[in-house]
Amino acid sequence: AVKLTDSQKKLGVNLNYHVITYGCQANVRDGEVISGILEQMGYTFSDALSKADIIILNTCAIRENAEKRVLGVIGSLQSYKRKKPEMVVGICGCMPQQEQMAQNIVAKYPIVELMFGTHNISSLPTLLENVLTTRKRNIEVFSALGSIYEDLPSVRQFRHKAFVNIMDGCDKFCSYCIVPYTRGQQRSRRWEDILKEVKRLKEEGYQEITLLGQNVNAYGKDLDQGCTFADLLEKVSDTGIRRIRFTTSHPWDFDDRMIDIIAQRDNIMPFIHLPLQSGNDEILKLMNRRYTSKQYKELFDRIKEKIKDVAISTDIIVGFPNETEEQFSDTLKMVEYCQYDNAYSFVFSAREGTPAARIEDSVSLEEKKRRLQRLNERLGYYSKLNNKKWEGQVVEVLVDGFSKTNPEIMSGYTPQQKLVNFSYDNAQIGAIIYVKITQGMKNSLNGVQVHPGKENHEQY
Ligand code: 5AD
Ligand code: SF4
Repeated sequence: AVKLTDSQKKLGVNLNYHVITYGCQANVRDGEVISGILEQMGYTFSDALSKADIIILNTCAIRENAEKRVLGVIGSLQSYKRKKPEMVVGICGCMPQQEQMAQNIVAKYPIVELMFGTHNISSLPTLLENVLTTRKRNIEVFSALGSIYEDLPSVRQFRHKAFVNIMDGCDKFCSYCIVPYTRGQQRSRRWEDILKEVKRLKEEGYQEITLLGQNVNAYGKDLDQGCTFADLLEKVSDTGIRRIRFTTSHPWDFDDRMIDIIAQRDNIMPFIHLPLQSGNDEILKLMNRRYTSKQYKELFDRIKEKIKDVAISTDIIVGFPNETEEQFSDTLKMVEYCQYDNAYSFVFSAREGTPAARIEDSVSLEEKKRRLQRLNERLGYYSKLNNKKWEGQVVEVLVDGFSKTNPEIMSGYTPQQKLVNFSYDNAQIGAIIYVKITQGMKNSLNGVQVHPGKENHEQY
């Protein structure tokens, strides 16, 4: 935990902060903690960048275009900084965790006065105080891996659904992936701490929690506490919180006990993100994914068979170095087989320091982009097909809020993690209500709120 000094608690009084988060849910969760620390220092959130006295970019390094976007934003902040020289620009998250990138930012962007890595969030008050008192750059990255923070303040994005970290880092070393280098070795939180957090969230009225980790199935393998991810799911389910989600699962250590528990427990949502990456065995091997396409299919089938109405989504990379047309077509075949509910697809991006970045590549970027388009056409076809299956059915929706363009429409998610836009007569943010689906589209469902009789449904 961070212990703020008296001077640190006053540093931000009458000042505004703004945090911009990029990338995965782990970053979103870190962003909530960063906001929490800044508010403890007295800062107030401001929507407008021009009003902010400190702007923190919480960055992602997973692909080159994620980094380019951030560098573009740093560039555009120069004009704000000119108008308001006392403003602090800070960079944190995964980009500074790469030594090359950290040096690059230091060399090219003098407006960045504060930089810290994902392991150094609790140093924020000290670093920021140093910047404000000395006006010298303060940087803290690549320090020894700490355990995951406990009991840091945080400002959660929603009041009805929350992210709960269960681990940080990853030991899988897929050959294309920067995460084991940026977020470091896998470190799991103790199950008692996780459970304490979930119980507190439930008491505060939260309806849904998402257990977060780069690789949740490997939860606990780095600890000597005799609690696997399946055990953790069971304990979290026992708290009685209404909805439990988790992400990301790796097909590698997805065991049958996990499937059984998800199948048995009503409050564990029937939605699984199961990254495929490639449908070709040679590419999977080069990716160091540790499963074959056959093993993936078998797991996929077991999940579909045992978990009622389960939705499965995936991640796919096209254009791994020297991927042939034939190898790519194995990925397409797998998509025809799995007919995913939803998918994220990417062109391979060489990340410095990873083994795959050292492979000389014979495939042009144009060809990779064509493959991505062909893949997306099929992925889109199946997500729409799956969404259409819900037409006419009544589903439970946890209400997130109002549509940005139409106040007569609200939106939320079904247990299968389908986004639903619906017209309502009596719905509140944070409530779980019933919606009759009228239309299934590629990325969402449309519907109307309904009120099924109490004799058929429990009413909440
Ligand atoms: N290039 C392209 N996509 C990548 N991903 C991870 N690393 C890379 C990379 N170097 C994708 C994977 C992963 C998702 C989060 O991002 O599909 O599952
Ligand atoms: Fe990256 Fe592979 Fe770990 Fe996922 S499992 S974070 S893709 S190394």
